[in-house]
Amino acid sequence: MIKVGVVGATGYAGEEVIKILVNHKGVKITELQAVIDKEELFSSIFPVFKGKVDIVCKKPDPDAMAKNVDLVFLGLPHKVSMDLAPIFLKHGKLVIDLSADYRLAPDVYKVWYGIEHKDKANLPGAVYGLPELYYDAIKKAKLIANPGCYPTSAILGIAPMLSHKAINANYIIVDSKSGVTGAGRKPDLALSFSEVNENLKAYKVNEHQHKPEINKILSEVAKQPIDIVFTPHLIPMNRGILSTIYLKLTKKLDTKAVIDIYKDFYKGKPFVRISDEGKLPQIRDIVGTNYCDIGIKVSGDTLIVVSCIDNLKKGAAGQAVQNMNIMCDFAETEGLI
Ligand SMILES: NC(=O)c1ccc[n+]([C@@H]2O[C@H](COP(=O)([O-])OP(=O)(O)OC[C@H]3O[C@@H](n4cnc5c(N)ncnc54)[C@H](OP(=O)(O)O)[C@@H]3O)[C@@H](O)[C@H]2O)c1
Repeated sequence: MIKVGVVGATGYAGEEVIKILVNHKGVKITELQAVIDKEELFSSIFPVFKGKVDIVCKKPDPDAMAKNVDLVFLGLPHKVSMDLAPIFLKHGKLVIDLSADYRLAPDVYKVWYGIEHKDKANLPGAVYGLPELYYDAIKKAKLIANPGCYPTSAILGIAPMLSHKAINANYIIVDSKSGVTGAGRKPDLALSFSEVNENLKAYKVNEHQHKPEINKILSEVAKQPIDIVFTPHLIPMNRGILSTIYLKLTKKLDTKAVIDIYKDFYKGKPFVRISDEGKLPQIRDIVGTNYCDIGIKVSGDTLIVVSCIDNLKKGAAGQAVQNMNIMCDFAETEGLI
């Protein structure tokens, strides 16, 4: 049994981590912290946890938390995690950071997040926590950079074809649609009910901060620089991401042949499901689960890939727990559906 803490416990991602851990056989939640007005039982802040998580949620104090945990999840905003992660690492604790703070090289981070990276000592040792690509490194990692939600759906949808060298690496178009929880719990007029309901809008067209993250990982897979076109959209639902990806085939392949490539690439990977020919994934089939469902359609030399995840599960908390399972020698699927 390992002792686990969550900082940012009151955020969407932190709360979701706790919901998963409640049913995890190898974990005891010992510490919860968040920016709160007064310290109180976590189950009084979120009554859903009554009788399950009756411990006090405290104000942030990483040194105090480190005394009572083996591993910590940081469900914190970007630019905050890199203040706390080094403290836990100094105490010899395992860290899984859900923010973007350890996902990019420092020069790229500065361009996209606007500030100098504050923990350049630990950054090179951080492992990108996408188990389908980096399982062996995750197993040995002390610090996990848990992937972003859009990147998870995009990278898993594209990696098999880049790895197989069967597409034009200079022509990758990702059109993603996300539910509103993807932006977190903090108030924002643009995310209020009447702004989002009965609406669909593109935003940060080809300049979303997840673009350099997708480019970085796909470049590693392709072993050449990749620069995708990426358009995210906000749609009126709580959770879920559906990415429609357009690729150009450089080999003559039909839908069945491409499906076989994907099935082979993800063989033995418990959380990626490839749809059979003629079927496409949809949000309602993955919401609340840690699955990435992928559907394939070939039309002439165009390959259309539809990749679906729950942004709070495979896109955040579920993937974070999957990483913990691998790091701590639990079954990869423990606590997850
Ligand atoms: N939402 C998603 O779908 C998703 C997906 C992938 C990755 N992520 C990433 O996961 C992280 C958390 O996202 P989220 O959606 O859970 O955000 P959120 O709902 O806004 O929650 C952020 C949490 O961090 C706490 N916090 C803020 N500043 C803090 C500080 N200085 N010290 C300690 N705690 C602090 C907040 O407390 P207060 O609310 O009291 O301020 C809250 O508990 C972000 O980096 C996000 O980009 C989110």
